[in-house]
Amino acid sequence: MRILVTGGAGCLGSNLIEHWLPQGHDILVIDNFATGNRETLPSGLPKLAMVEGSVADRALVERVFADFAPTHVVHSAAAYKDPDDWREDVASNVLGSVNVVAAARTAKVERFVNFQTALCYGAPEQVPIPVDHPCRPVASYGISKTAGEAYVAASGLPFVSLRLASIIGPRLTIGAIPTFYQRLKAGKSVFCTTAVRDFLAMSDFLAFMDLAMKTGAPTGIFNLGPGKGHSIKDVLVAVAGAIDAAVPDPIDIRPVGADDVETVVLDPAETTRAFGWKAQVSFEKAIADMVRWYDAHGISAIHTHLKAPAGSARS
Ligand SMILES: NC(=O)c1ccc[n+]([C@@H]2O[C@H](COP(=O)([O-])OP(=O)(O)OC[C@H]3O[C@@H](n4cnc5c(N)ncnc54)[C@H](O)[C@@H]3O)[C@@H](O)[C@H]2O)c1
Repeated sequence: MRILVTGGAGCLGSNLIEHWLPQGHDILVIDNFATGNRETLPSGLPKLAMVEGSVADRALVERVFADFAPTHVVHSAAAYKDPDDWREDVASNVLGSVNVVAAARTAKVERFVNFQTALCYGAPEQVPIPVDHPCRPVASYGISKTAGEAYVAASGLPFVSLRLASIIGPRLTIGAIPTFYQRLKAGKSVFCTTAVRDFLAMSDFLAFMDLAMKTGAPTGIFNLGPGKGHSIKDVLVAVAGAIDAAVPDPIDIRPVGADDVETVVLDPAETTRAFGWKAQVSFEKAIADMVRWYDAHGISAIHTHLKAPAGSARS
């Protein structure tokens, strides 16, 4: 495969690249390093190229597609780090998606995989949330990502758009897990929101991505998660247990902010039916593995799309 990965310096993109490079694929990354790190990806590898720039730059996107001639696209680039910067969210998540989709059509790619936030559903009427639940996003990240996904779906491309649970794995810098790890290690206070989220181990995500990239595999919009939710308090208890820290007593529990959603648990039934995929790794093991990764590598920065402090998990 010749795989173009937008946002390839970020968490999901870089894990995919580490997973696919040893299989001998040619990979090209476009990233503006808004939240990704330049150093994340190895340099000097003949099968990995990196272009610095924004997917919102139409001329750059068209040039890169023409030069690289991808057979597969993974659209992972997204803006979310300043919830008040609506223009950046629209530039990256709407216009950027349109640029990437249009270039992928011209290149006649075999597969186009898009990542979508589960916040597209807004406050759900039903939990777990079926994939045909209406989309009613309430904040800039979800609104702009939902518009971007709609362009992917309207493109006529052989696409898969994945509404993702919170993926736990190397370089995770978003949400409750790194926040609790860092603050508990430093002996600082923590609080939990009342949010409930679903969490998916990176190895389960990567196993699905191998299926999603296959020519002739099912197309459309799918939920990707374990189908089971955990409270942010569960996350705190699991992180504290994994680093041998005391769980604060009592736990400071606060309502979710106005820009957040209380419960997000995706129903993966359609995904299991179409792809035969099911999550394999338990919540406890995924958190324990994550903690061991932070022990070995540290945490560079923590990002959130929420206005409230990063005590709740992004989905
Ligand atoms: N990680 C999760 O659990 C999760 C859950 C739901 C949805 N998603 C979606 O998956 C994708 C990847 O998320 P992630 O967790 O790896 O986040 P991330 O922040 O680690 O990666 C996003 C990457 O996109 C880059 N980027 C941002 N704006 C760009 C632009 N205009 N042009 C080029 N590059 C740009 C960033 O620098 C970063 O490297 C995003 O689309 C996100 O909305 C992720």
